[in-house]
Amino acid sequence: LRRRDATMKISLKVFRYDPERDDVPRYQTYDLEVEALDTMLDAVTKVRYQLDGSLNFRRACSHAICGSCAMTVNNESKLACQTLVKDCHPEKPILVEPLRSYPVIRDLIVDMDRFYEKLGRIKPYFESELQAPFNEREQSQEQQLRIDEAASCILCGSCISACPSFWANDDYMGPAVLLKAYRFIADSRDTCGAERIARVSDRDGLWRCHNIANCMEACPKEITITHWINELKMMAFSSKI
Ligand code: F3S
Ligand code: FES
Repeated sequence: LRRRDATMKISLKVFRYDPERDDVPRYQTYDLEVEALDTMLDAVTKVRYQLDGSLNFRRACSHAICGSCAMTVNNESKLACQTLVKDCHPEKPILVEPLRSYPVIRDLIVDMDRFYEKLGRIKPYFESELQAPFNEREQSQEQQLRIDEAASCILCGSCISACPSFWANDDYMGPAVLLKAYRFIADSRDTCGAERIARVSDRDGLWRCHNIANCMEACPKEITITHWINELKMMAFSSKI
C-alpha cells in the first residue's frame, strides 16, 4: 500500500479551552486531509503544525507506551496514537475532547496531579525486605503470569475517566491505582503486600468499586481490570498475599 495514494478529507470538532482567554470552553472545527493509515495523534498534530499552533495536547512515545496521548474521541476514551482516523467514522466530524473526569488545564490537556497523588499512596514500586541475591530475584512462570497482565498498565488514566464510582466520588482511588496495587501485592518477589492491602482497604479504595466494568471497556491495553480488582478484594478479605 502506497500511503500517499489513499488520502481522505476529514473534519475534527475539537474542544478548546484557554483559561487565560476563555470564560467557558468552546469547540473549533478544522478541515484537513489525512493519509489512509494516519492515527488520531497524526491528525491533531497536523492541526497544530499546519492549521492552528495554539492547539495543545500531550504526546511523547507515539507508540502506545507512555499513556500521555489519552483523550476522548467520539465520546470514548482512546490513546490517540493507536487509534486510526479511518476507524473513527470520518464521514462525519470527529469529536475530540480531553479525557473526562479530570480538570482541564488547556484544550486536550488534563490535570492528573490527584491521580498521581493517589498512585503514590500505594507505593507503586517494588519493595523487598529480603537481601538481594547475587543474581536477579527469580520467579516461576506461574508467578509471573499472575501479574503479567496487570503489569502492562501504562497509567494513561482512561479507566478512571470511564468509572461511574469515580464520577460519583472523586476521592475514590480508581481502577488504575487499584490495579497497580494488585500488580505489586501479587508479585511473589515483593514483601510489602500487607501494608499495601491496608492502604487500599478503605472506603475510598477497594470497597468503592462496584464491579461496573466500564474500566475494562475503556482500557486501551485490554486489561481485564475488574477481574484483577476482584482478585484484590479476595486477598483483602482473606488477607492472603
Ligand atoms: Fe469502576 Fe471498574 Fe469498579 S468501572 S466500579 S473500577 S469495575
Ligand atoms: Fe505515548 Fe500515545 S503518545 S501512548
